[in-house]
Amino acid sequence: MDYLQIKRVNSLSGNIKISGAKNASLPLIAMIILAKQSVTINNLPHVADINTLLKLLSNLGAKYERGEHVTTVDTTSLTQTKATYDIVKTMRASILVLGPLLARFGHCEVSLPGGCAIGQRPIDLHLKALEQMGTNINIKAGYIEATAPNGLKGCDIIFDKITVTGTANIIMAAALANGITTITNAAREPEVVQLCEVLDKSGVKIDGIGTAILKITGTSGKLININEFKVIPDRIEAGTYLCAGAITKSELTLTDVNPSHLSAVISKLEEMGSKFTISKTSITIHPSNIIKPVKIVTQEYPAFPTDMQAQFLALATQAIGTSIIEEKLFENRFMHVSELQRMGADISLNGHVATINGGTKLSGTDVMATDLRASSALVLAGLIADGVTDVHRIYHLDRGYDSLEIKLQNVNADIKRLKE
Ligand code: EPZ
Repeated sequence: MDYLQIKRVNSLSGNIKISGAKNASLPLIAMIILAKQSVTINNLPHVADINTLLKLLSNLGAKYERGEHVTTVDTTSLTQTKATYDIVKTMRASILVLGPLLARFGHCEVSLPGGCAIGQRPIDLHLKALEQMGTNINIKAGYIEATAPNGLKGCDIIFDKITVTGTANIIMAAALANGITTITNAAREPEVVQLCEVLDKSGVKIDGIGTAILKITGTSGKLININEFKVIPDRIEAGTYLCAGAITKSELTLTDVNPSHLSAVISKLEEMGSKFTISKTSITIHPSNIIKPVKIVTQEYPAFPTDMQAQFLALATQAIGTSIIEEKLFENRFMHVSELQRMGADISLNGHVATINGGTKLSGTDVMATDLRASSALVLAGLIADGVTDVHRIYHLDRGYDSLEIKLQNVNADIKRLKE
């Protein structure tokens, strides 16, 4: 297994090119199950989760060619509709094939994804919405057996909670349904917006894109023509590198980024003392020497994203004062806290609220990544810790960050990927 060895340097400097968004890529790849021909995708990130979903599709009979910048996926030869446990257990977002497989074939079997390190991750809202659209759902031996013998019918769905992949699943199911589906309390994340935009350009009429109420006019089972598209930039990767600039008090410029997707993150960094120069596709962070404490509550987009919580918690250990961070989406998303405490951070947890007394010197040591974003928080801490920080189990990190150590090396960080 690989690990990352990080040593403190005086400061970072230079540009970091942001890759395509993992969480946009996953539904966009699943969406190709709805296509009547091969589809070309630009800017897919080179991360493990994308490879996993492409492998899942090839297990179902699809063909794909993965290039450095361009990938083509052809699902015209899909032969089977069973997403097996061996794949789904490695990436729960595989549940995103449920809606499109059902829409196209009227039946499918998808392994229950199970939970993950950060929480239970139920999919009850996905299943309830599909049942409303005329699906018979049977849970048997750890699999979801879904059939819609008369096809899916458009209807009015109201999500009790905002669910990103739940919204994506139902959008894709509704795309081929008979009639109109409205989704109320839909997720408004940029990744969901791009899925809607690509479908809308492919002949699936969608009203309300970007709002909490979507109206999707299904094609009544007809597959769609999906033109070539480019995946939007990864706002969480971008936010992570902005935190790297803030925590090391270094000026960094991010390119190929969409600043409008980062408003809540930039606003919190401004509260903590950073200033920014922003253009249409770039962000330069001008960090302050004194990092101010902050109060953060994670919520759905466009509010502060849960996927940036761990990174800001690491940054808060260096603020002069006490910060409060409340995690409202997931029940167990503070596993980076114990590792940061081992580095000397002064953090106390009370349920879903972390209190961070900043201004502590961190010391490098062996730390263990527990989930994707916790891994990046430990890397951020390692950048400013005294001594050497070895971050183990970085297979978690490789799920969602494209060439992280190379991007940081290119801005002068002392970080190496080594073998255990
Ligand atoms: C997506 O997960 C992201 N993953 C997550 O990013 C992100 O943290 C999360 O949205 C919230 O923004 C992908 O897009 C692949 P949810 P998702 O359904 O869709 C509850 C990362 O680091 N819920 O929006 O699985 C759920 O328990 C990953 O890149 C139900 O109760 O999250 C949670 O409390 C981690 N029933 C809340 O809703 C359901 O049927 C939000 O979950 C579905 C969800």
